[in-house]
Amino acid sequence: MTETVTQQAENPLLEGLQLRRKPDPCAFVIFGASGDLTQRKLIPALYSLAYRQLLPEKFAVVGAARTEESDEGFRLRMEEAVKQHARDPFREDIWEPLAEGMHYISTDFGDKAFEHRLRERVTQFDRERGTAGNRVYYFAVPPSAIATLVQEVGKRRSTEGWARLVIEKPFGHDLDSARALTEQLHEYFTEDEIFRIDHYLGKETVQNMLALRFSNGIFEPIWNRQFIDHVQITVAETIGIERRADYYEQAGAIRDIFQNHLLQLLALTAMEPPIDFTSEQVRNEKVKALRSLHTPSPKSVLRGQYGRGYVEGQEVPGYREEEGVASDSMTDTYVAAKLFVDNWRWADTPFYVRMGKRLARRETTIAIQFKSAPHPPFEESATEALRPNVLVVHVQPDEGVSLAIGAKVPGAGMTIRNVHMDFLYGGTFRTGLPEAYERLILDAMLGDQTLFTRTDEVEEQWSLVDAVIAAWRRDRPAFPNYAAGTWGPASANELIQRDGRSWRSH
Ligand code: BG6
Repeated sequence: MTETVTQQAENPLLEGLQLRRKPDPCAFVIFGASGDLTQRKLIPALYSLAYRQLLPEKFAVVGAARTEESDEGFRLRMEEAVKQHARDPFREDIWEPLAEGMHYISTDFGDKAFEHRLRERVTQFDRERGTAGNRVYYFAVPPSAIATLVQEVGKRRSTEGWARLVIEKPFGHDLDSARALTEQLHEYFTEDEIFRIDHYLGKETVQNMLALRFSNGIFEPIWNRQFIDHVQITVAETIGIERRADYYEQAGAIRDIFQNHLLQLLALTAMEPPIDFTSEQVRNEKVKALRSLHTPSPKSVLRGQYGRGYVEGQEVPGYREEEGVASDSMTDTYVAAKLFVDNWRWADTPFYVRMGKRLARRETTIAIQFKSAPHPPFEESATEALRPNVLVVHVQPDEGVSLAIGAKVPGAGMTIRNVHMDFLYGGTFRTGLPEAYERLILDAMLGDQTLFTRTDEVEEQWSLVDAVIAAWRRDRPAFPNYAAGTWGPASANELIQRDGRSWRSH
């Protein structure tokens, strides 16, 4: 994390994303510009960067997608998207200069003339807007479409300026396809030009795991098997698949969340301290943690699929009833697992993880449960309500960190129960949290790869997931096996209860 810093400025109103250096002038090309991601995340993120004067002064955007649309139509649609999804209020004086440099090309991507039209457009920007031959190519398209596009762009890449490819997850569909895709990208681009995005790494609270562990002297000495009983990671969503059946039927929870977001959260929790915060060192340590993951036995990983139920008071259909989903679909919308990191720090310490759609509550947390005090000198009845210390990183919502400790209940006698010491972002820093995409787009423009996944990380993640999926081929669970609005299948409780533990209550 070299160029951007999130720090407490003397004036708290200035807290938030700050820069030591502005990105170079560049053209930002989005493939898949008519999709949801562009409207909900990418353009609102660019707007918020413009709002904070973090974009280069010489900047232009080209959206490319199948839908027929004029430049003007694209700008109007993007203006609506900003009004609806940006975290900052809409301001004409911020939007106008950004919109002026926005263009659109409609193409079915197979068309050879497309690359020529695109090249003409961006070279025109170099002349007219001073973008200096620098390009960010953002691939918000399915993995199958990426290789052809990269080849087209790569074959005649400009000899002037730099090029960076930002590629959405999942990167490939399994280990072999991820390797093949990397090889195809490497034909024209080097690894330091490839930015594999996992937007969880752009979240402030996820980066805070690194700050918490490595900027405080008190945690590292006890961050190991000697003091920690187990770790629980939860990525729970209340939403369903939101008109993404085509993608989700292929991916399932295992490829959509487990392979990337969840394993990254685990890697940040389990990794050794890097010697510095350069992208090489941070990623070296993450990849070592991922490589130490033991392939789980089939009975340590289970999957689920939601049936009809109630979420936040609303009746919602089951997964098999969602538009575009097969009525006998065996796609997983929930995964729970017990994982082990086989190294000196973590040997025999379970990492219980669970993630799913249409669960009871939206919550992403990493909970570190410490071992109980070795010899509490109190009467048993005094500590009946006392639980072991837990440090919880609340990734979202209620962003912050809390530590559960035992405290004496006021009054005569000695009764002890748990209380919480809380740090809440909202109350501590007087600034809204930047959207993950703002940080990541800015880092890509600055060429900082620390918060992007390297090819060896992605391959380690796929090796584990491939082994799990291979074991799944041998059985056919009775789906649906949990009702929407609950905490997942009953077997997820058994997974942890047979070890004499339980999922954190909510
Ligand atoms: C995306 C997944 O990567 O992350 C979605 O494809 C999921 O299925 C989303 O809903 C969750 O992101 P967040 O930031 O809302 O936790």
